Amino acid sequence: MTKHRSDEDDVRAATAPFQAEFPYERDEEAQVTRREFCNFLGLTSAALFFGATGFATKAALDAREAVSLSAAHIGGAENLAPNSSLNFGYPTERDSAILIRTADGAYHAYGQKCTHLSCPVYYSRDHERLECPCHEGAFDVTTGNVLYGPPPRALDVIEVEVREGQVWAIGRNVSAPKDGG
Ligand code: FES
Repeated sequence: MTKHRSDEDDVRAATAPFQAEFPYERDEEAQVTRREFCNFLGLTSAALFFGATGFATKAALDAREAVSLSAAHIGGAENLAPNSSLNFGYPTERDSAILIRTADGAYHAYGQKCTHLSCPVYYSRDHERLECPCHEGAFDVTTGNVLYGPPPRALDVIEVEVREGQVWAIGRNVSAPKDGG
């Protein structure tokens, strides 16, 4: 009776000379593979961690950045009646901003984008505060701080200065989140 040779026997016979020339252990190969996989996981985790940390750090720094900008005259501000407001653009015409002259005659200016979802805030003369019509957020007119509602941080403050009777915007401060994070 002829002995039946399985495919496996054929393969073993065919590869035997090569295995003698290039010996290897499957178990060791598997361990190397596991080690390499662990290294890969470690490196990937480290890359993700440092990437996320970098983004968080940049965001935190950006949130505290005081932007130095060239001064710009706010046209018509000198004729603004107390307890009223006017819109302007700063540092460019496309950067909508709002100037408020409070009842005591002082000027305050802010970026007009609500810090929640960017709806334009307006000045409420009745309540003497800045209000957001989208989700009922409100901001203090003298500081830009959140009074209530969902906004996570104060409005961007635009520094203003009165020079020889004219009102100038001279800088813009981006505020940090109200929880300090
Ligand atoms: S966009 Fe202003 S409260 Fe939501």
